[in-house]
Amino acid sequence: MGKDVIIACDFASAEETYRFLDNFTEEKPFVKIGMELFYAEGPAIVRAIKARGHKIFLDLKLHDIPNTVKKAMSVLSNLDVDIVNLHAAGGSDMMKGAIEGLTRPDGTRPLLIAVTQLTSIDQARMENELLIKEPLAEVVMSYAENAKNAGLDGVVCSPLEAGVVHERCGKDFCTVTPGIRFASADAGDQQRITTPAEANKIGSDYIVVGRPITKAEDPVAAYRRCVAEFIG
Ligand code: C5P
Repeated sequence: MGKDVIIACDFASAEETYRFLDNFTEEKPFVKIGMELFYAEGPAIVRAIKARGHKIFLDLKLHDIPNTVKKAMSVLSNLDVDIVNLHAAGGSDMMKGAIEGLTRPDGTRPLLIAVTQLTSIDQARMENELLIKEPLAEVVMSYAENAKNAGLDGVVCSPLEAGVVHERCGKDFCTVTPGIRFASADAGDQQRITTPAEANKIGSDYIVVGRPITKAEDPVAAYRRCVAEFIG
């Protein structure tokens, strides 16, 4: 599993995104494109960033009936992205359909990872609104196992969960972890955080870092610090 730092490009427009990426003249960081940017700019933004030489994690969190997800994934696969994701709550048939849709005629496909429970869902909300009564940590692990059994490559999870996910699902089942902050930095709205070095120690394969890089006075220096702490 290739370890890497993925920058969450949570920008509202292509222009803002290019202005940010133009800071990087030597390296080509792995970039995460989320719903805001994708819905604003469409597939063209993916092609353009790819053409600049970046790897792309397209964070659209698909969740629909298996046939719809299969067809949507086939479209995303043609965009030549490197990682895509879906909600494990969509069920095993949806996840298997997604893999079928993603697989290109030559047998290659982007990595497919699952969201288990969103970090905005806590135990009380899960019990009272979703009517799931099990402990949250158990639900996360069980969904991760469903994803693995359906043939997915990994999950998005807290860096604090990365070790347990590897224990239960194997070291090749990849963990992609947001919630990263430099030591002594402001956590913002993130609750369960680690530093890049801690995430490495616990076993994250990819860390997703947004504001500590995008809002830094010197984004390139912040990115390099992340890489140095996470990969060494
Ligand atoms: O700015 P920050 O480093 O908090 O950005 C983290 C990125 O990871 C954001 O794009 C956020 O949407 C995403 N994310 C997250 N927690 C999850 C899933 C995704 O923070 N559970």
